[in-house]
Amino acid sequence: MTTTNQIEPEDIIICDCSGTTKAKILQLIDNGADDIDKISRATGAVSGCGSCDILVADLLNEYGK
Ligand code: FES
Repeated sequence: MTTTNQIEPEDIIICDCSGTTKAKILQLIDNGADDIDKISRATGAVSGCGSCDILVADLLNEYGK
């Protein structure tokens, strides 16, 4: 069996336009980001095509405080 480089869940790209990863968004949420605007300003996510807004919202709902 060959070993492959596995992509960790945290390495998943949430926003293709800005290349923002799940790990980056979770780090921002950990540091107190509590809405999409704050995450967008910090990463550029949701400022391109906007199709990732639901994914960012889901992360906020799941991991936000
Ligand atoms: S995928 Fe995030 S703005 Fe386009």
